Amino acid sequence: MNKKITIAIDGFSSTGKSTIAKLIAKKYNFIYVDTGAMYRAVTLYALENNFIGSDFFNVDSLVSNLKKISLKFIFNDQLSFAEMYLNDVNVEKEIRSLKVSQFVSKIAEITAVRKKLVLEQQKMGENGGIVMDGRDIGTVVFPNADIKLFMTASADKRATRRYKELIDRGDNVSFKDILFNVQERDRIDSTRKDSPLVMAEDAIEFDNSDMGIDEQFERICILIDKKIS
Ligand code: DC
Repeated sequence: MNKKITIAIDGFSSTGKSTIAKLIAKKYNFIYVDTGAMYRAVTLYALENNFIGSDFFNVDSLVSNLKKISLKFIFNDQLSFAEMYLNDVNVEKEIRSLKVSQFVSKIAEITAVRKKLVLEQQKMGENGGIVMDGRDIGTVVFPNADIKLFMTASADKRATRRYKELIDRGDNVSFKDILFNVQERDRIDSTRKDSPLVMAEDAIEFDNSDMGIDEQFERICILIDKKIS
């Protein structure tokens, strides 16, 4: 039987982390956890409860209500991936909106939010056999992960991917707004005080601006096969 290893995938937004993670999970029968979905669900909760808006952020109210937030991933057999549930409501579509993307980096700066989510993530991974993607997986959540990958791509390429995803699902967005959001999140995510997005020293970097998913996946499988056999 294959060893149940831990794989950490970090990197900027829309670098194809989740596509690669899903392929790995399927091939090796590992659990896949999209930690960005957890930060997005907390953001949706903060927006719905008016704790954050374009000109205000009531951090104290959000922090004192954190215990009321229940996050669950429930596997959807038809879609072949686990969808995010916020307090037992499927929020998979809402959390991918540009509105949530515009506020999520602010929410992810809050230490109490990070503490709650990191603990939940560590619990999900305590038995191994997991591939988790995010910003701090190889540095904070699983510093001893068996494999650490760090994905990058140019902001323009990433914004183009995100724009296509949102247009395909019917959202009315402009490319300019998406590019601005991608660049702004890069800036906040990499400069925040708590767990900034940095490449772990022992991570392997993949720049996929010009590399297709198939080629990357092939290279990553070679790394995994070495570890599990
Ligand atoms: O992966 P994503 O684009 O869905 O993530 C949304 C935001 O959540 C991202 O801009 C920063 C934050 N995030 C984080 O701070 N730490 C993680 N482990 C995952 C996401």
